[in-house]
Amino acid sequence: MSRGAFIVIEGLDRSGKTTQTAALYEQLKEVGKVAKLLKFPDRTTAIGKMIDAYLRSQSDLDDRAIHLLFSANRWELASEIEKDLKEGINILCDRYAFSGIAFSASKGLPYEWCRAPDISLPSPDLVLFLDISPEKAKERGGYGEERYEKEEMQKKVREIFKRIGEEMNVATAGAKWVVIDAGRDCEDVAKDVWAHAEGLIEGTSQPITRLWDTSE
Ligand SMILES: Nc1ncnc2c1ncn2[C@@H]1O[C@H](COP(=O)(O)OP(=O)(O)OP(=O)(O)O)[C@@H](O)[C@H]1O
Ligand SMILES: [Mg+2]
Repeated sequence: MSRGAFIVIEGLDRSGKTTQTAALYEQLKEVGKVAKLLKFPDRTTAIGKMIDAYLRSQSDLDDRAIHLLFSANRWELASEIEKDLKEGINILCDRYAFSGIAFSASKGLPYEWCRAPDISLPSPDLVLFLDISPEKAKERGGYGEERYEKEEMQKKVREIFKRIGEEMNVATAGAKWVVIDAGRDCEDVAKDVWAHAEGLIEGTSQPITRLWDTSE
């Protein structure tokens, strides 16, 4: 029995996640494969609206409270993700738990504490991490006005992502983590993204695993 594949695109702000997720979606379409696009935070849900107000600095929240809201926003969609995968639908997702951990840990919250609420989320089969220096990311039209879009913060976030990546490629973590140099032309990055994703587009017979879940 085959199920859909779950592919996550992660990276710093302005690294090209949305561009590459859309490009991969189009490439899949070209070869006759439908996929579902997801993006976190999903700002349309009740929790998502609270996150949106926070990111636009229209509300203030305790660092721990906002961290848990980001995680809850993923849990809101967890059963739908599992259902879709079981029905054979490939899912392409722009950011996931890894961003949640990287941003909150960058503020100084303990790494393990940040990871805890995301343990057992449906695990992606593949994480494509778009790596770019904050300096280069900034050149791409500059950061926007949102809360985390500052170079100093992005430097810390990149360090935590590095740690997450190093810890991901162990059997119990769940997902395969691949680093892609995102400082190149869109087309070159897209070629690499495709090269890694291509093997999964027919789906997979592997069972759905859970992130960092050692109980199975
Ligand atoms: N490889 C690239 N080279 C140059 N510019 C790029 C490249 N990829 C994307 N861009 C441009 O950089 C900007 C940011 O790209 P995009 O929105 O895809 O990044 P993102 O990672 O989704 O950002 P955010 O974290 O803000 O959502 C856009 O203006 C986009 O057109
Ligand atoms: Mg984006």
